[in-house]
Amino acid sequence: MGSFSEERVIFLRQEINRHNNLYYADNDPEITDYDYDLLMIELKSLEAKHPDLVTAESPTQRVGAPSNENFGRLEHRIPLLSLGNGFNLDDIKSWHQKTIRLLDNSEIQMVCELKIDGLAVSLIYQDGILVRGATRGDGLIGEDVTSNLKTIKSIPLVLSGAGSGVIEVRGEVYMPRSKFLLLNDERARIGQKPFANPRNCAAGSLRQLDPNVTAARPLDIFIYGLGYIEGGLSVQDHWSALQHMQRLGFRINPNSRVCANISEVEEYYQECLDKREVIDYDADGIVVKVNKFEHQGALGSIGREPRWAIAYKYPAQSAKTKLLEIGINVGRTGTLNPYAILAPITVGGATIRMATLHNEEDIRRKDIRAGDTVIVERAGEVIPQVIGPVLEARTGQESVFIMPARCPVCDSRTETSRDGKATICPNPQCPAQFIELLKHFV
Ligand code: IVH
Repeated sequence: MGSFSEERVIFLRQEINRHNNLYYADNDPEITDYDYDLLMIELKSLEAKHPDLVTAESPTQRVGAPSNENFGRLEHRIPLLSLGNGFNLDDIKSWHQKTIRLLDNSEIQMVCELKIDGLAVSLIYQDGILVRGATRGDGLIGEDVTSNLKTIKSIPLVLSGAGSGVIEVRGEVYMPRSKFLLLNDERARIGQKPFANPRNCAAGSLRQLDPNVTAARPLDIFIYGLGYIEGGLSVQDHWSALQHMQRLGFRINPNSRVCANISEVEEYYQECLDKREVIDYDADGIVVKVNKFEHQGALGSIGREPRWAIAYKYPAQSAKTKLLEIGINVGRTGTLNPYAILAPITVGGATIRMATLHNEEDIRRKDIRAGDTVIVERAGEVIPQVIGPVLEARTGQESVFIMPARCPVCDSRTETSRDGKATICPNPQCPAQFIELLKHFV
């Protein structure tokens, strides 16, 4: 074992723990899920190569975060598992091949579902009445957030037609994107820090000490699985379980589908990816599950990951790249619009070379400098945006942006617009303005 590996393992653990803390305790992550996954993959592969470096406290040995001491602890009767990740079709094909081999059966039915980007919860019903609800926590012990979960209208407090006994269901609490945007606008208006994304907002909303705060947040839930059952339930596969849970009154995602082979899974994945922007909640991929419970049982789990299911992740929507230069476009009305010239990078399947920087004020507010490493984000067909600089990557060579004193096209002295918000080229004969006007006219 080289000392480099050991140092790297120590570094990765510290980093992952720090990001776990930012994510779970502060609900305020610094990096994308994708970058987090990459850190975890690197740590896992180093630990696989050097088993002597594995320790019980390594973040690879547990799922999620420890429970917050502000809430009561609730021990899960059956651990809440995590999912292994696949990032491309080859990963899913090899998972499928392995599944077929282990079961010695080439005709394995699968259920495909959206992987909702929220937070996992467990709901326990005794004789048809909701008695407890908890977060996942570390997978073994979660936080008792029963009062908060009861404020979510789509969680039934009483089940329709459930017999006696215990039934535990699991699902994902999330916040619809449209509601999240409204909430963040309102927070910005009253000077509160906006949430980074709908998932953090949902997590922060559910882990409130005052259920009235949770009640005021537009949370929702999709139930995706059964947990502990006492009193018998005669379903043999996941698909029937979903239908059964729907009959009991649970909200089940309507986009799920039974697939007979990998080409059907791929078709499902592509369809979901195409609808990604249209659906009013974030999904970060699909989940492929072996349908029959008998098969699931035979496959079992390794560590905290079941062998009977896998996440097939969507490509990341954001990435880091170098901002080479800040260019200026002269608009039809003479406004000087800054834009970012980037070191080309692939984001969500498209190559990005340029991104909008909105205006001078935005650049100043985000402190974006030429030469910075920046985070760029792309959402569907929308023009890519520069989210902000990666401050840790600064070398001191970056240059602060200043709006040019002269029009880059006709060299006229620039002026400030009447409302004071934009810099303009006042020359009505400026060729750039003429071309833009012509384009507009055409
Ligand atoms: S199944 C053993 N189904 O993804 C199966 N999980 O990375 C584990 N998630 O903790 C869960 N949508 O919070 C399942 N349709 C879905 C899901 C889903 C989102 C989350 C869940 C879980 C995490 C695993």
